[in-house]
Amino acid sequence: MLARIVATRLLEIRQSLRLTPQASRSFSTSLNYHIDTADNNPDLPWEFSAANKEKVKEIVSHYPSNYKQSAVIPLLDLAQQQHGGWLPVSAMNAVAKVIEVAPIRVYEVATFYSMFNRSPVGKYHLLVCGTTPCMIRGSREIEDALLKHLGVKRNEVTKDGLFSVGEMECMGCCVNAPMITVADYSKGSEGYTYNYYEDVTPKRVVEIVEMLRKGEKPPRGTQNPKRINCGPEGGNTTLHGEPKPPPCRDLDSC
Ligand code: FES
Repeated sequence: MLARIVATRLLEIRQSLRLTPQASRSFSTSLNYHIDTADNNPDLPWEFSAANKEKVKEIVSHYPSNYKQSAVIPLLDLAQQQHGGWLPVSAMNAVAKVIEVAPIRVYEVATFYSMFNRSPVGKYHLLVCGTTPCMIRGSREIEDALLKHLGVKRNEVTKDGLFSVGEMECMGCCVNAPMITVADYSKGSEGYTYNYYEDVTPKRVVEIVEMLRKGEKPPRGTQNPKRINCGPEGGNTTLHGEPKPPPCRDLDSC
């Protein structure tokens, strides 16, 4: 009897949260573990390219020699760009070797930050901000429009390898919510870019996808023609004049 009551209540909660068993979203726990596969195991060779080896030297030189491990994030980022947007276990092991730490020290960083992808992504990896301000302004509908248009589930790659859709936490553009960012791996680590598209609508994100598919560059930033950058729609309502400079004390006479 108790089990039935609990099961009924869980079903009610799930329905109220719209988390049906058929939901198209897969949640981030799937990104936190590793199982060896034919294309992702520690026996596969991986090393930084000749050009990136120079960048590795430069990155490591920014840190004291006894704190090389502080370079872990920029090195993982470089490895991810080189590998087309994701980090196989051999790439993480290569980073561990550079900074002279046990591989687990690198794994724990790569599995903590959602900007590191542990499985293949599309050449254009579309990340929908899922944090509260964007969610209130319709990020679920934005994600649904992308998944439906591309015919994939979250974190799946389209058959042509061009697109994937993931989720990201707040990217600091809440004033222009909802927003997505596009990690563009189409030009390798040399031409890598990371672009924000703000004030998006379900229709606009589909247009952005189609522009990227054609090799065009959709204009970044706000997609609302009535807004300039982060200003209010229709123009400024305050701060019309030049702000007064702060009063300065005459330090010599203090
Ligand atoms: S909540 Fe989406 S950018 Fe801050």
